[in-house]
Amino acid sequence: MTEPGVIPAWVAEMDYAVADVITDALLEAVIRGRTGYPPYAFGGELGRAYADWAERHFDQTVDPELVIPTVDVTAGMRLALDVLSEDAPVVMPVPAYSPQLEIAEITGRKRVDLVVDPDDERAVIDLEAPDAAFADGARTLILTQPHNPWGRVFTHAELEGIRDVVVRHGARVISDEIHAPLVLPGADHVSYLAVDGTADHAVALVAASKAFNIAGLKCARVVAGDVATRDRLFGAPMARNDSWSTLGVVAALAAYDEGDPWLAAPVERLDRQRTLLEALLAEHLPLARMRPLEATYLAWLDLRAYGFRDPAQVCLERGRVRLAPGHDYHPGSTGHVRLNIATSAERLTEIVHRMARALAT
Ligand SMILES: Cc1ncc(COP(=O)(O)O)c(C=O)c1O
Repeated sequence: MTEPGVIPAWVAEMDYAVADVITDALLEAVIRGRTGYPPYAFGGELGRAYADWAERHFDQTVDPELVIPTVDVTAGMRLALDVLSEDAPVVMPVPAYSPQLEIAEITGRKRVDLVVDPDDERAVIDLEAPDAAFADGARTLILTQPHNPWGRVFTHAELEGIRDVVVRHGARVISDEIHAPLVLPGADHVSYLAVDGTADHAVALVAASKAFNIAGLKCARVVAGDVATRDRLFGAPMARNDSWSTLGVVAALAAYDEGDPWLAAPVERLDRQRTLLEALLAEHLPLARMRPLEATYLAWLDLRAYGFRDPAQVCLERGRVRLAPGHDYHPGSTGHVRLNIATSAERLTEIVHRMARALAT
C-alpha cells in the first residue's frame, strides 16, 4: 500500500536490499527455464540445506529427511493443525501475529487465548494458563519462538517448562520459528524441537523469508520431530500441501547455503537500530514502554500512557506514519503499536519524531 507522504512502518519486511547471492541464483534459475514444478518430496537439497543451517546457526542437529517443504509458515501451521491435532481447542499466547489469530477457527477449532500481561517486564508465559487450558480439553499449543510481536526469545529453561506441561497433558506443540535467523546479539535461538522429549509431539515451522526478505517467493518448511509425524504430514492428500514455488526453493537454498555473510550485516544493523530506538524513545516519547527487543525488527510499544485507545490511528492521521495497531494482535491490546525498525537510522529517527508530534497532547 503506497500512501503519499506516509512512512510505512507496519508491514514485516525490511527496507534492506535482497542478498546478491539470492538475486543471482534467481536470475540464473529463470534464464535456465527452472520455472516448472519443484520436486514433490521431503528431505532432498532443501532438507540438507536447512539441516546444515540449523547446525551452523543454532547448534541443532536436524535430520534432513524430516524436513517437508510447504508454501509458507502459515500454511504449514494449518497443515499441522489439520493433520496432526486432535479436534479440540488450540491454545494461543496473545498478542500474536494477527493472520494466525483465525487459524484455529479456519481448521474448525476454538482458540483459547493465553494473554500475556502487558505490564510483565519480560513477557513470560505463565505455565498455569496452558495447564488449565489443557485440563479443560485443549490439545494444541501454538508457540511462536522467537515471538512476534513480543520480541522475546524463550530460553531453554522456559521451553522445558512448556514441554513439561504439554507432556503432562498429552498435548501437541506447533512452533512457529520464522524469526529464528534474526535473533539479535545477547540471545540464542533454541528450537522447541531441540529440547529433549519434544520429538513425538511437536513440529517446527521454519523459513528464510523474514531474514532474507523473500516472503513473496513462497517456500517454507515444516520440520517434523520424528518419522511417524513426517509420514502423517507427507501422507496427507497432495492438495493439502503442494503449492510451494520453485523459485522459492532456489532462493531458500541460496540463503541457507551462501547467505551467512549477508545476514551478518542486517543483524548488526538491527542491533544498532534497537539501541537507537531506545534512545529516541527516551528523548522524544518518554512515556512509551518497550521490553528489550531480543529478536526480529518488530518493536512492540506500550503507548497507553499517552491516553489513546488507538495510537496507530493517531500517528497516521496526525503524524503521517503507519504503524500496526496493537488491537490487531489481540483485541485487548489497545494503546499498543508494533513498529518496524528495519530501515535506516534517519528514517527511524523521523518516524519517532512524527510519532512524538502526533501523540503530544
Ligand atoms: C510469527 C510469524 N509467523 C508467520 C509469519 C508469516 O509467514 P508466512 O508468510 O510464511 O506465512 C509472520 C510474518 O510476519 C510472523 O511474524
